[in-house]
This record gives sequence, C-alpha cells and structure tokens, in this order.
Amino acid sequence: MKAYKIALIPGDGIGRDMTAAAWSVLQKAASTRGFTLDGTEFPWSCAFYKETGAMMPADGIATLRGFDAILLGAVGWPAEVPDAVSLHGLLLPIRKNFVQYANIRPHRLLPGVQGPLKASAFDILCIRENTEGEYSGAGGRIHQGTLDEVAVETSIFTRKGVERILRFAFEQARTRRGKLASVTKSNAQKHSMVFWDEITRQLAPDYPDVEVTSYHIDAMAARMVMAPETLDVVVASNLFGDILTDLGAAIQGGLGFAASANINPERSAPSMFEPVHGSAPDIAHLGIANPIATVWSGAMMLEHLGEQDAANAIMAAIEATTASGIGTVPGKDRTDAITTALLAAI
Ligand code: IPM
Ligand code: MN
Repeated sequence: MKAYKIALIPGDGIGRDMTAAAWSVLQKAASTRGFTLDGTEFPWSCAFYKETGAMMPADGIATLRGFDAILLGAVGWPAEVPDAVSLHGLLLPIRKNFVQYANIRPHRLLPGVQGPLKASAFDILCIRENTEGEYSGAGGRIHQGTLDEVAVETSIFTRKGVERILRFAFEQARTRRGKLASVTKSNAQKHSMVFWDEITRQLAPDYPDVEVTSYHIDAMAARMVMAPETLDVVVASNLFGDILTDLGAAIQGGLGFAASANINPERSAPSMFEPVHGSAPDIAHLGIANPIATVWSGAMMLEHLGEQDAANAIMAAIEATTASGIGTVPGKDRTDAITTALLAAI
C-alpha cells in the first residue's frame, strides 16, 4: 500500500480547526482509496514563537524537506506577534526555500453557492508567482522614527523566475480551455513589468495552441467582476496575484471556498497546500469557520501526489455538500456539520 508522509502545520487561529477538519476528510479519502497518509504535526505558530522566540526551529526547513507534502492551516496572531514577523518566520521561508514558485488558486462557484455577481458560471485558475517579485523582501529603512526616515522595498524580477512561472501557466492553459491572461502594469512600471510582457511575447510561439492576452492589473480587477466567464488561466506577479486571488475568493462566495497550492513543479522539494484565508482571530475556535477551503486544498495535495481518484472523490463530496445547501452561506452551518456532511459524501 502506498504511504505518504505529510507534515501538518495547523498554525494559528482557525488554521488549527480547519486543519483538523480537513485531515479527517483526507484520511477517509485515503482509507477508502487504498493508500495511507501518515501525518506528523508541527506546533509552529505564533504560540510557538512566544515560547521559543522563533516561528519554527532553526532546522525547521531541513525537517520539512523529508516529507512528501505539507498541509498548512493559517499563520498569524497579530495581537501578539506582528504579521511581518510571523509570516517572514514560517510561511514565506517555506515557499522560498522549497522553490514553490507556482501558487495555484482556483476560483469557481460551487453548486448551491450564491456569489455576489450576476455571473453564475466562471472557472478561473489564478497562477501567482510565489517566490520573488514585490515580496522578495529586499530593502530596508534608515533614520527610523525621524523626519528623515526612508523606507525602500525593491521588487526583484529575474528572467529565470518570470520565465518559469509563465511556462507553468502556459502549460496549465493547455490542459484547460487554452486561454491565458498575463497580468502586469507595464504602462506605469516600465522596467519589471515591461520585462514580464516581453518574456510573455517571447514564450508565446512555444505554445501555439494557447491564446495569450496581456492585461493591466487595474483592467483585470474590473474584468474579474464584470466578465469573469471570459477568463481561463490568469498569471500574475506575487503582489498582483495576491490581490487578484482575494478578489477571486470574493466572487466565488468568500474566503471559505478559496483553496490554494504552493507548488514546486520540478518536485525538488515538498509542495505546500493551504487555504487562501488567514487565521481569523475574531472567529478562532468558535466552530463556525468553513473548512471547505482547506479540504479543497487537501484535494489539490492528493492530486499533486498522484492520487487523482481520491482528489476527485473529495471534490465530488464538496460539491454534493454545497449542492445540498450545507456550507454555502457564511456562518450558517457549523464547522462540525459541514465536516460531517463531507465525510458522509466521500
Ligand atoms: C496569501 C497571504 C500571504 C501572502 C500573506 C499572509 C503573507 O495573504 O497567501 O495570500 O500574501 O502571500
Ligand atoms: Mn493573500
């Protein structure tokens, strides 16, 4: 029997509740489909930081490297640890060290879910560059706290980084409806974004079966609201992809449905699966958060591991659950009730 080693990082707030719920669904999918998921839980979180002074141990990355995949709940507890500290101490180093350069986020309406738009059918796959760009972390501050204070944050775009995310997106488009939207702001940012557009044009001939169109981020934001059904695969830089995928979550009915996968396409290190939402301290442990985003991320994990049947079974269970009206409206059904329905549908 195939056995996969999964690192579980529940993290903070609802991340803990959602990971527990998703893990039970994943276990059921595995046991009924003939493989095992051996989970090892790591308590790395803001609570861990308060105890030890670090979000994860110094050898945390080395430890995770031995796993087949990572399932992460959410990171952040801003009342006690500044976000810039917690995220740069755990989530972002994992994405960068494991070269998880493709952040994939599907946005479509599940059956029974009423989104805020008139459009009732759209199926967008956002692909966000996940290791460089605006979130490279290059920069600094001088003369802090004085009137002469200066803050500099430099975006870093490398040919290697841009080319590999674009190729990944072209390839995804190929397996779907053959349309790729490449998103920049090359009318205002004349170095990095012009560079991205140029590379898009250079690669296009390698994918004659894909119709590629370049958009500006502001126009894309409007298009996702006004005409989401015209979009197939959307590729963007780290910052733009971050923003567009919260918009994507909104049009699909909310963050409770937005799944994400941080993929290392070359498989030189584990990939990580996590919902788009954060730790939501205001509703942590109240039992009212929707586990569907994390469960869907878990299905993406099984797909990445090659367990397509089990991934399909989870997606079918999610769709059967929402089609029956469970988990479709924020706050209506409790986490337990949604999880029970998912388990029954597997
Ligand atoms: C996300 C989150 C993170 C990101 C934050 C918490 C750093 O917003 O996964 O979209 O922007 O990468
Ligand atoms: Mn985000």
